[in-house]
Amino acid sequence: MSDKTATHQAREDARNNDIMIYVNGQIVPRAQATVSVFDSGFMLGDGVWEGLRLYNGTWAFLDEHMDRLFEAAKAIDLDIGIDRKGIVSALLETQTANNMQDNAHARLMVTRGVKTRPFQHPIFSQSGPTIVIIMEHSLPKLPRPIRLATVPHIRGLPMSQDPKLNSHSKLNCVLACIAAEKAGADEALMLDHHGFVNTTNACNFFIVRKGAVWTSTGDYCMNGITRAKVIDLCQSNGITVFERNFSLVDTYSADEAFLTGTFGAQTPVGEIDGRQIGNGELGPVTKRIRELYKSLIKQVCA
Ligand SMILES: Cc1ncc(COP(=O)(O)O)c(C=O)c1O
Repeated sequence: MSDKTATHQAREDARNNDIMIYVNGQIVPRAQATVSVFDSGFMLGDGVWEGLRLYNGTWAFLDEHMDRLFEAAKAIDLDIGIDRKGIVSALLETQTANNMQDNAHARLMVTRGVKTRPFQHPIFSQSGPTIVIIMEHSLPKLPRPIRLATVPHIRGLPMSQDPKLNSHSKLNCVLACIAAEKAGADEALMLDHHGFVNTTNACNFFIVRKGAVWTSTGDYCMNGITRAKVIDLCQSNGITVFERNFSLVDTYSADEAFLTGTFGAQTPVGEIDGRQIGNGELGPVTKRIRELYKSLIKQVCA
């Protein structure tokens, strides 16, 4: 593929070569920001993370991100070691060290920490969690609507690796993304175990049919914060929205399709499995939702 793109593509910004990174209470230059080869996150993907966005000096939906981080840590029985206030002040310290105010993105990661021996059992993770915050200047840059390909990698059932968890290990999603790329697409459209359309490897998925917005039931996908905000915005602005099961038949013939995520807000989808969606461009309902979301961000990040 000559014109590769991705939903997390940002404008090149040379300032990102010199960012300061938070590593376990220290803020260090990018080149010195390292974790141990014995880290549980490196060895096993044993950790959880959040992607957050800074607009106009304010972290958007910070409470929701903190709720989700602490819920996920509890679910995997990981003691973060500091409370919400501590995590928020680490984030603010990182922001201050980088002197960032707007159009910045943070990846806040917490792993089960450094192991005493190179084995899986959590008993070997004895020295407390590893906490890392990477902040970057980040202005999303999307040259065209995204292309999706349906892949064989499905969203699992909650009793295997609950797909609601923002786990460090994203291998299922990474494999899905690779399969999509090999099929000539930018990102993977993933089905649930019944074959209903669920989500993509890195974002939540929506279609628009006859003016109504459809998304999956919410089972088997990440509890996307942007997803929830889009549903709320539809409900409070007279746009019919359904959380329901739907198939590829409904999807290919949709008038519009778009993705949601903290990074890209709402990303239009132009093509799925070689079928053009609508006219292949940003559609009117997606455009309206984008505007509503922008106003919401202006309001909450005033
Ligand atoms: C698989 C997946 N789906 C959806 C999302 C979007 O979630 P949010 O809107 O909270 O950024 C993410 C973001 O991390 C993700 O990894």
